[in-house]
Amino acid sequence: MPQESTSPILSVENVDLGYGALQVVTDVSLRVGEGELVGLVGGNGSGKSTILRAISGMITPFRGRIVFDGEAIRPAAPHQMAAKGLAHVPMGRQLFPNMSVRENLLVGATLPAARAARARSLEEVRALFPELDAHMDAAAGQLSGGQQQMVAIARALMLRPKMMIMDEPSIGLAPRLVKDVMAAIRRVAHTGLPILLVEQNVKQVLAVCDRAYVLENGRLALEGSATELQGHPLVRKAYLGL
Ligand SMILES: Nc1ncnc2c1ncn2[C@@H]1O[C@H](COP(=O)(O)OP(=O)(O)O)[C@@H](O)[C@H]1O
Ligand SMILES: [Mg+2]
Repeated sequence: MPQESTSPILSVENVDLGYGALQVVTDVSLRVGEGELVGLVGGNGSGKSTILRAISGMITPFRGRIVFDGEAIRPAAPHQMAAKGLAHVPMGRQLFPNMSVRENLLVGATLPAARAARARSLEEVRALFPELDAHMDAAAGQLSGGQQQMVAIARALMLRPKMMIMDEPSIGLAPRLVKDVMAAIRRVAHTGLPILLVEQNVKQVLAVCDRAYVLENGRLALEGSATELQGHPLVRKAYLGL
């Protein structure tokens, strides 16, 4: 992975984050290089979503800074970050259940540049998610949880983003479907799109990502390659149940 030689698409530098007077994230630094699939894992309430909110400009760091595609992130509305090429797959999918899968996908291509390319994008995401192909005209709400998660990811791809961040795509899915969704995320990463994958499901994330960061109580406890972390005694004991 070329994360050392080229400048990373995303670099979070020594950020403290919180809400009002409440600090919930302390001195976190992380980076995502071109073409990398990076995990950010930690238990409930450890600060994962707070970090994603800061990356998407929804909250401003108390300290430190975040650089995306060579530019320091400033307070931004979601559509502004999307226009800069950052796609956010939100927790809970947030599809339009009564609209067809195709219509849900087209919602992801409303910004002008994405709109101009939407026919090509639709072909590309159909090729990437063959699971969805037979269901393009079905109401999104009728699909399985795993397929709905794939629609949420495919919708984000319709933006033709430079990077994707995902908040707990495995939440609420049966273990078999989690595997399918993780495999789909790996396929997306193979297209070269850098991804920051936020998850509580440490085992599944380490099975697909290149590197990962482990967050505990708002601080980084560990970082390393997936292989290093899978063999780390703390990870094995606290997260893998070994
Ligand atoms: N809008 C908010 N206002 C105040 N505290 C919040 C808010 N959102 C999250 N928190 C607190 O910040 C901490 C980290 O939350 P969060 O980033 O959502 O964790 P995670 O995504 O890892 O479950 C938790 O203690 C949570 O209660
Ligand atoms: Mg969260």
